[in-house]
Amino acid sequence: MVGMSEGPVEQPEHYFSERPAVGDRERVVEFELDGVGYELTASTGVFSGTRLDPGTSVLLRKVVPPDAAGVFLDLGCGYGPISAVLARRPDAEVWAVDVNRRALELTRRNTDRSPGTVHVATPREVPEAVRFDEIWSNPPIKVGKAALHELLATWLPRLTDDGVAWLVVSKHLGADSLSRWLADRDWSVEKHASAKGFRILRVSRT
Ligand SMILES: C[S@@+](CC[C@H](N)C(=O)[O-])C[C@H]1O[C@@H](n2cnc3c(N)ncnc32)[C@H](O)[C@@H]1O
Repeated sequence: MVGMSEGPVEQPEHYFSERPAVGDRERVVEFELDGVGYELTASTGVFSGTRLDPGTSVLLRKVVPPDAAGVFLDLGCGYGPISAVLARRPDAEVWAVDVNRRALELTRRNTDRSPGTVHVATPREVPEAVRFDEIWSNPPIKVGKAALHELLATWLPRLTDDGVAWLVVSKHLGADSLSRWLADRDWSVEKHASAKGFRILRVSRT
């Protein structure tokens, strides 16, 4: 007899599950930026596992990657497209952070030949003392407003004094209300660019 407790329990799954239950079907994601071709491995169970997300694409095309050495955070790295770009400079130190273990493993593979240093980590693994010159994020809007606010309230204060965060948010998923929420908490928020239904927010200390 097959007991009810045997076999996998079907749970509705999100790309931010810590351990995705869905089978691991890998895909190659290719894109080009500033004349450099990227060929990354993505998979089922991670955000946008078949193609470069259009919001991420807007972020990468509208914001100039750092032109000096520094410490950078890719907040919610997924399979690592932002980290791969930030780690093009040999003097870049990138923290690629996510809660999804499959995403972290893919990011590790996708950046292991990058010229820069990439630390792939869960949020808890980032040492308390680390500060970031830039934070880049296509944040996980689908976690809900409270969790998203908590995420930003946790990481934005870890910017250096003149650090900058670049966030891409869909207009219809609340870019303007997020912008107001940040401004109400004394962050300086600038609408840096808009394209294809996304806004790029530039966030810094006032
Ligand atoms: C919109 S996706 C962006 C993924 C990737 N940066 C990209 O552009 O394809 C947001 C990511 O945030 C991650 N995430 C969700 N909650 C998180 C948390 N509390 N801390 C860090 N990352 C989180 C999700 O697992 C997901 O990979």
